[in-house]
Amino acid sequence: MRITVVGQGYVGLPISVCAAEAGHTVFGFDIDQEKISKLKLGITDSPEVSIDRLLDLQLKNNIKFSSSINDGSGSSIFIIAVPTPLNSKQKPDLSFLKSACELIAQVVGPSSLIINESTSYIGTLRDLIKPIIDKLSGLLDLNYAVAPERIDPGNKVWNIKNTPRNVAGLTTVATQQTADFYTSFCDSVNVVSSPEVAECAKLFENTFRQVNIALVNELSEVANKLNFSTHEAIMAAATKPFGFMPFYPSVGVGGHCIPVDPSYLSYSAEMAGIDAKFIKLANQVNSAMPKILKERIKECLDGDLRGKKIQIAGISYKPDISDLRESPALDLVKELETSGAIVSWHDPFVEEYDGRMSVLLSNNIDLGLIITPHSQIDFSIWKKANVKVLDLSANSNNYGWPKFL
Ligand SMILES: NC(=O)c1ccc[n+]([C@@H]2O[C@H](COP(=O)([O-])OP(=O)(O)OC[C@H]3O[C@@H](n4cnc5c(N)ncnc54)[C@H](O)[C@@H]3O)[C@@H](O)[C@H]2O)c1
Repeated sequence: MRITVVGQGYVGLPISVCAAEAGHTVFGFDIDQEKISKLKLGITDSPEVSIDRLLDLQLKNNIKFSSSINDGSGSSIFIIAVPTPLNSKQKPDLSFLKSACELIAQVVGPSSLIINESTSYIGTLRDLIKPIIDKLSGLLDLNYAVAPERIDPGNKVWNIKNTPRNVAGLTTVATQQTADFYTSFCDSVNVVSSPEVAECAKLFENTFRQVNIALVNELSEVANKLNFSTHEAIMAAATKPFGFMPFYPSVGVGGHCIPVDPSYLSYSAEMAGIDAKFIKLANQVNSAMPKILKERIKECLDGDLRGKKIQIAGISYKPDISDLRESPALDLVKELETSGAIVSWHDPFVEEYDGRMSVLLSNNIDLGLIITPHSQIDFSIWKKANVKVLDLSANSNNYGWPKFL
């Protein structure tokens, strides 16, 4: 089949590659011309896709990247994989999604299938995507479905192929076509009864994480005051073989999913006249962590951060990827600097951020903070020099220092 994937980011690119490797002819479209130029050369930030795979698929004409939507005409399936962030009022910003629909409407042909993979509020497919594309294309026989993406960029175990995929269409035909398409490269496809169920499942998965992370972040404050290790208490609780799932405290939540998706669920709740209290509270608890930690770090530096040299290991939002979106490490940097600390950071995945460069780990510092422990960071310089280090990472590995949270 000929497939157009709209958006070539962390979600769209791996889907394009998997579909192309499954034998479909893929057109990878993105409005970002620089990204498209890089993809043509095999260059990408996505940890899922290697340069060899990208070049090989292009050489065989299995995949073509372009920033002209006209190349998508003649496709039988259009997949939407564009950002769905929050606006300044923490409400859904659907501008990218709407513009993707407008572009698809320019080239979509009769009876095509449109699948939304972007995360959005419950009812987006039925109430927003379908009306825009139907109206602008003038076609009344289009098929619509959702297949919310669950990718965890950088995860070495779970990927697009082996992570079960929830799918649902607005009609039986759309559902069947969508299930058939994903079956061509996913091991397990779970058909649910409506797009709203699939949209809700996606939001709920990430809200479950957000709320549980907030819970352990709150527990870490209790443990700190009562002078025991939260990690040890959680690991002890996790020896219960049923009814418990461990989450670990950290500087907060980052990325394009956990800090964002719950607010899409609370928006759906608000539309239904319900106040989603848990989500608000979890957002508050998680986003307060950098401030709380600043105070705790200050205590470890004689109660004064002014002039103290602090170095951070890892500023992206999770290990082994370069994604800085919503990274709570950036908030901690701001907090520490506002109180007079001299902060530098080392991140092998982030060469430059906000005009500042990553620097090598140094032993000439007052404090080292482990926030995002990328597997290639070598901590030996801190160890050899007996640098004072606080491990703030949620990661279960021990890098030679006890967990601080
Ligand atoms: N990143 C994740 O881990 C992840 C996991 C599951 C689901 N999601 C969801 O998937 C969606 C995409 O997220 P992402 O992380 O891939 O974002 P991303 O920013 O990495 O990529 C999105 C791409 O879409 C492009 N784009 C924006 N508007 C466009 C348009 N109108 N037409 C064509 N291209 C356009 C951007 O240039 C960008 O390259 C979001 O809804 C997100 O919540 C993300």
